[in-house]
Amino acid sequence: MENTNIKKIGILTGGGDCPGLNAVIRAAVKTAILQYGWKVTGIQDGFEGLLVDGKARPLLFDHVKDILDKGGTILGSSNRANPFEYKFKVHGKLVTEDRSPILLEKLQSMEIDALMVIGGDGTLSIAHRLHGLGVPIVGVPKTIDNDLASTDITFGFDTAINTATDALDKIRTTAESHHRVMVVEVMGRYAGWIALQAGIASGADIILIPEMPFKLEKIYEIIKERVRTGRHSSIIVVAEGANPEGGEMVIKKIVEDSADAIRLGGIGEILADKISSEIHVESRETVLGHIQRGGTPSAFDRILSTRLGVGAVKLLAEGNFGRMVCLRTPHIDSVPLEDAISQLKKVDPDSEVVQAAKAIGVSFGI
Ligand code: F6P
Repeated sequence: MENTNIKKIGILTGGGDCPGLNAVIRAAVKTAILQYGWKVTGIQDGFEGLLVDGKARPLLFDHVKDILDKGGTILGSSNRANPFEYKFKVHGKLVTEDRSPILLEKLQSMEIDALMVIGGDGTLSIAHRLHGLGVPIVGVPKTIDNDLASTDITFGFDTAINTATDALDKIRTTAESHHRVMVVEVMGRYAGWIALQAGIASGADIILIPEMPFKLEKIYEIIKERVRTGRHSSIIVVAEGANPEGGEMVIKKIVEDSADAIRLGGIGEILADKISSEIHVESRETVLGHIQRGGTPSAFDRILSTRLGVGAVKLLAEGNFGRMVCLRTPHIDSVPLEDAISQLKKVDPDSEVVQAAKAIGVSFGI
């Protein structure tokens, strides 16, 4: 059923960038114009664009031409602009303020009838709260981490694992030529999906993920055994959130004014140093970092993004607000935003994919 009250929608992208964002924007703009005759406003820099003037512009067909294959987001993004806890400095001191009333006024003054927000758990949590204030809103799940429980897969993940796999294939050259252990740290926050999938795809010897705390002694044992049996190079893929049994995740820094304050990173360096110093096997670390979030989206991500963009506009048209569009293979479906943000999707250590990796001799350091 169509909600005929909508004449104009706003679209924003929040949180970290991710391959496929532009494909969602393109699909949403085209569907809104072609199927419903709506106007579309593009909001710049996430929720920040709804709190200050001059950060919104009309999105027409021409604006979404040639963006299907472009990484990043033409709308810009931010993970610093939570309207409910807007942080800013006064005389060098960090102050937090609820700016949601300003956001509601802005929506009204721009005559935006409904909002589509494309983001990860942080952005979708804000969307859920805005829905609670009566904003007609739908969400589209985005993250290279693939850690949202209410969708089979998030767009961006496929591109990220392809990028990481390509890097790992290249790193093997140095590992083999120099008889080294190469430790490659990948992103993923508190979930090990990128490490697991890229590790399997690249034939890694050891995969370390947050869901399976590792034992350093076990890693030493495996490497020594490999050296003893003539395998002088090894590849370890370590998720940035992986930690030793009884230990903590390694925090690189805390960014106080960010909605997502904890930055993980550094476990790769610690591991490589330990391997070099404890068992005297030359080891180096490589941190893939934001390379995993960049570049052109894979064909899979372009298709998924397009389907989600179309699905989100349909939700708005049906008046199905407060929901997140999702993939329930083979269908595009939706779930209440509340469910979408309530739990993270983590790797199940007993899952078939982990067992398959173990069956071919991959160690998880346990
Ligand atoms: O959530 C996506 C992600 O790339 C994580 O894998 C990573 O921990 C984080 O964002 C990095 O955030 P930032 O771009 O703010 O450094």
